[in-house]
Amino acid sequence: MTVVSRATAIAHPNIALAKYWGKRADGHNLPAVPSLSVTLAGMATTTEVAFDASLDRDELHLGGAALPPDAEATRRVAGLLDRVRAASGRRERARVVSRNDFPTAAGLASSASAFAALALAASAAAGLPTAPALVSDLARKTSVSAARSAFGGFVELRAGRPGDEALAATPLAPEDHWPLAVVIAVTREGPKDVGSSDGMRHTAMTSPYFPAWVDAAPSLFDAVRAAVLARDLAALGAAAEASALCMHASSIAASPGLLYWTGATVEVIAAVRRLRAQGTPAFFTIDAGPHVKVFTTPEAQAAVGAALLAVPGVLRTITAVPGGGARLAPSSGGA
Ligand code: PMV
Repeated sequence: MTVVSRATAIAHPNIALAKYWGKRADGHNLPAVPSLSVTLAGMATTTEVAFDASLDRDELHLGGAALPPDAEATRRVAGLLDRVRAASGRRERARVVSRNDFPTAAGLASSASAFAALALAASAAAGLPTAPALVSDLARKTSVSAARSAFGGFVELRAGRPGDEALAATPLAPEDHWPLAVVIAVTREGPKDVGSSDGMRHTAMTSPYFPAWVDAAPSLFDAVRAAVLARDLAALGAAAEASALCMHASSIAASPGLLYWTGATVEVIAAVRRLRAQGTPAFFTIDAGPHVKVFTTPEAQAAVGAALLAVPGVLRTITAVPGGGARLAPSSGGA
């Protein structure tokens, strides 16, 4: 009889208020800038990992479909599993079955929840410790933003320093620190054209504004952090919008220019500014895709959602609130 060790984990996407964009040049997948995010409830990735001696290679099943062995996602998953095998002394290959209840790879932060869930499930299945800081570091080695989804609420991740190999995110404030609401304006269905890793590499290599972004990011991060701790929505909005716009400006100035936006992205920015001019608290942020994530108060959420849905090119909205960190599924006993 083949012994199978399995565990299932659930993790949520996060949205960065102070953006990570760009890696340090000295390896280890370390971020060049500090970032700060809020983990969301209401969208989730559920991932089961089963180490199984009868398998001759790692398998990835995403949303019900088996991915080819040479697919980029399969390779990244196998890379994380290799680290878990090296740390645990296990040698079996694993079957990874993952599903998202929101669009995959469309700039909706699916890699963050995916690799946080995978890191936790694989660690548990292999019998490794599952402390959130260890899960965060393991996830970060594959996807920097995933390091932040190990924790719930408001989460920070400092920039890498020379000589760092381990680097985990740290919780800044719990999910009930500040009852914000997020309305995501979905402006396109389907995957994005340029993934975040490729996009930031291209930006770092070719954009004259990349060094300016790396210089500006720490003080934008400080302003975001102070505004979160003070629960100051106006200050947070100014700093978070500046972080997103500086990040995108660096990519737009790459050669050739990398523009993640569509016309609808710009129309949503304009709608958010109109809402604010009318006294509705709201600010936007944008990741490596055309969707716009609008933060507001729970009281104003319905009005913001209706205003965004009325913008031409907005296909639908998704609403979320701050949520918890990665966790094992109740039935998942680990190894
Ligand atoms: O770690 P990745 O490849 O998911 O990069 C995420 C980059 C952004 O979403 C654009 C910003 C961020 O900090 O989440």
